[in-house]
Amino acid sequence: MTLPNGLTPDAARAQAARAYELDRKHVFHSWSAQAALTPMTITAAQGSYVWDGDGNRLLDFSSQMVNTNIGHQHPKVVAAIQEQAATLCTVAPPHVNAARSEAARLISERTPGDLDRIFFTNGGADAVEHAVRMARLHTGRHKVLARYRSYHGGTDTAVNLTGDPRRWPNDLGTSGVVHFFGPFLYRSQFHASTEAEESQRALEHLEQTIAFEGPGTIAAIILESVPGTAGIMVPPPGYLAGVRELCDRHGIVFIADEVMAGFGRTGQWFAIQNFDVVPDLITFAKGVNSGYVPLGGVAISPRIAATFDDRAYPGGLTYSGHPLATAAAVATITAMSQERIVENAAEMGERVIGPGLRELAERHPSIGEVRGLGVFWALELVRDRATREPLAPYGGTSPAMTETVAAAKAAGLLMFVNFNRLHVVPPCTISEAEAKEGLAILDQALAVADGHLG
Ligand SMILES: Cc1ncc(COP(=O)(O)O)c(C=O)c1O
Repeated sequence: MTLPNGLTPDAARAQAARAYELDRKHVFHSWSAQAALTPMTITAAQGSYVWDGDGNRLLDFSSQMVNTNIGHQHPKVVAAIQEQAATLCTVAPPHVNAARSEAARLISERTPGDLDRIFFTNGGADAVEHAVRMARLHTGRHKVLARYRSYHGGTDTAVNLTGDPRRWPNDLGTSGVVHFFGPFLYRSQFHASTEAEESQRALEHLEQTIAFEGPGTIAAIILESVPGTAGIMVPPPGYLAGVRELCDRHGIVFIADEVMAGFGRTGQWFAIQNFDVVPDLITFAKGVNSGYVPLGGVAISPRIAATFDDRAYPGGLTYSGHPLATAAAVATITAMSQERIVENAAEMGERVIGPGLRELAERHPSIGEVRGLGVFWALELVRDRATREPLAPYGGTSPAMTETVAAAKAAGLLMFVNFNRLHVVPPCTISEAEAKEGLAILDQALAVADGHLG
């Protein structure tokens, strides 16, 4: 028997052992203290599964970094990359290229409202950098408002916009970013007890923040349409429409960061389409081509694009709209449309994953809250449902969390973890049988979390 990559298990194990040895010697990893790392090796992947260095098959409920929306090794995307590589590997950004033009058309056709101009970047963080730069130049203002409990990327502006502890060592207080609280009823900053109250009070808080910061100084408000890494807090009804209204009232650019939530994850092409709101700029990456080749970008409204009709946009990248990446986007978006993959994400969320997780919450006292939509779900794990004390502290981890995640992995399930949360974020292509297989493993693993309760 061979793995999906054609290797025998023995050959794959030998290759993995060598890769691991070289990794520990020469590779410097993101966001980590290097000495303590024991990273997992992945040798092969197919659909919703990956294979580790010991030849074990794991169901990928993480979609890696929540990016393999179309699943692993989709044959049409692999073929498109191969074809593009054989035809034309690279062109400089000033030249027209068929793959880039077609990708821009396909994305523009799916964005909400009139956003129809695409600036391509290499990933999500640089998309955020450019969206903020466009907003600042368009408005002639500098300040940007962003929420606590958010992630916008690892580059300088993006990490300063970020509302999680990864910002702290990178924040010199000079970035022009002001943070505010967004709606999150389970841990409400506003003493709210209903979604309607949370929405109204969060909007009042934002309105006050704008008033006290000086509306004429604020270039943009950036929000993840549904915050991802920070906890998949689906905004309550009326919130994003209220933000839109505040932006309109004060001439502020509304940037929707859809790097994680976009391209099918919430059961819509863009998450903001769940709320019937049109932002001025959308940042995207990840799901646009499932990360098969690095790609991100900014979708731009005609009003903001017009700012740069007669004035040069002061920004660019050698690989803007790289042919291999945009050919992968064309194939990904086309396959997602033809195979009704966005519809599958919506259906799996509504019919299988949402009800399945709520059923787990009835039996596992460690689950404080279940929230999400599409294939974008979080389990908020707590020590005590009454006090809502998290199972790991904000910004940290705990034996309870690491043992729970290890139990899931030992039983064949790869999870996305952040602090006290488990995120259920499988590919948008996940089948009902696979979703149920993952939920059954999760059921076993949660017994470990329950065991840590007082
Ligand atoms: C909402 C959001 N914005 C931006 C980024 C940064 O994207 P990248 O890692 O491609 O730079 C991420 C990455 O997880 C994200 O989730």
